[in-house]
Amino acid sequence: MEEQIKNIQTEAIEAVKKAMSLADLDDIRVKYLGKKGSFSAIFRSMKDLSPEEKPKVGKFVNEARTLIETEIQAKNEVLKENELQDRLENETIDITLPGRAPRLGHLHPITLTLNRIKEIFLRMGFSIEEGPEIEEDYYNFELLNLPKDHPARDMQDSFYITEEILMRTQTSPVQARTMKAHKNNEPIRMIAPGRVYRRDDYDATHSPMFTQVEGLVIDKGITFADLKGTLELALREIFQKQVGVRFRPSFFPFTEPSTEVDISCVMCGGKGCRVCKGTGYLEILGAGMVHPRVLEMSGYNYKKVSGFAFGLGVERIAMLSYGIDDLRLFYDNDVRFLNKF
Ligand code: PHE
Repeated sequence: MEEQIKNIQTEAIEAVKKAMSLADLDDIRVKYLGKKGSFSAIFRSMKDLSPEEKPKVGKFVNEARTLIETEIQAKNEVLKENELQDRLENETIDITLPGRAPRLGHLHPITLTLNRIKEIFLRMGFSIEEGPEIEEDYYNFELLNLPKDHPARDMQDSFYITEEILMRTQTSPVQARTMKAHKNNEPIRMIAPGRVYRRDDYDATHSPMFTQVEGLVIDKGITFADLKGTLELALREIFQKQVGVRFRPSFFPFTEPSTEVDISCVMCGGKGCRVCKGTGYLEILGAGMVHPRVLEMSGYNYKKVSGFAFGLGVERIAMLSYGIDDLRLFYDNDVRFLNKF
């Protein structure tokens, strides 16, 4: 019987050595140590042994079982470790794959142009003022010398919210708001950038919404020479060129005298081309000496101080400085266009 046990033991240990997986190992355990396994059979046949032999054989069987169990246990560790290694190798995440970088945006060309204009006027000692885009008729028209029945209102038909409230048609109401916020004829030197709204077509050169920069200077003894000098300097700074500047008489209800300001064409230098329609000049802003009645209505004494005001179109300037021939490109927000800036 010992012989038989010895053989089972050798066979079992051999099998354990050859086991390739934890499943193999489990089969071996069942085959040799399980209820219906080889050793159970031996135990069952032990009942025929003599009382002297029984404990001897029993001890022998137990030793063999322990030995096999130890082997299985050891092999189990090895196989587990191997399986872990396999998984580590096969289930790795490739952390060397480059991440998806968030794409950085940048400022819109109108904002870039606006920032440049602001910077130029800040250097000239101007402050920056703001006003609401939803404006009162009172500020947008009345205080600018455009009473209810004034025909010049037709040029600036707008989106009315009520009879008295509308989308502002110009940044000029910020002039009135700023004057009203000052007392005792205090000097003012301000610009007011912002969006304005007018009933208009939407094509290469028109949009019902656009951007203006308003300017207002009030002090003792301000003359048309100050207006000319300031605007000439500002326009040369904006276009980074010795552009020619031309003043044409014009009309605005809130300035007297009023002027339309042209610059020599930035495309052809004044020779005449498609952009300036052969004239050599481009209209760039409206300006004038603040009307005495406008000063008075907002609490300034026109006998003591005078001032000039101007309003320039930012899209126009952006188109000219970047050489863009369609205004709508600024609003379509096609990234292929925006990426060029
Ligand atoms: N507000 C005028 C416009 O939008 C421009 C302007 C501003 C003219 C200030 C004179 C003085 O057309």
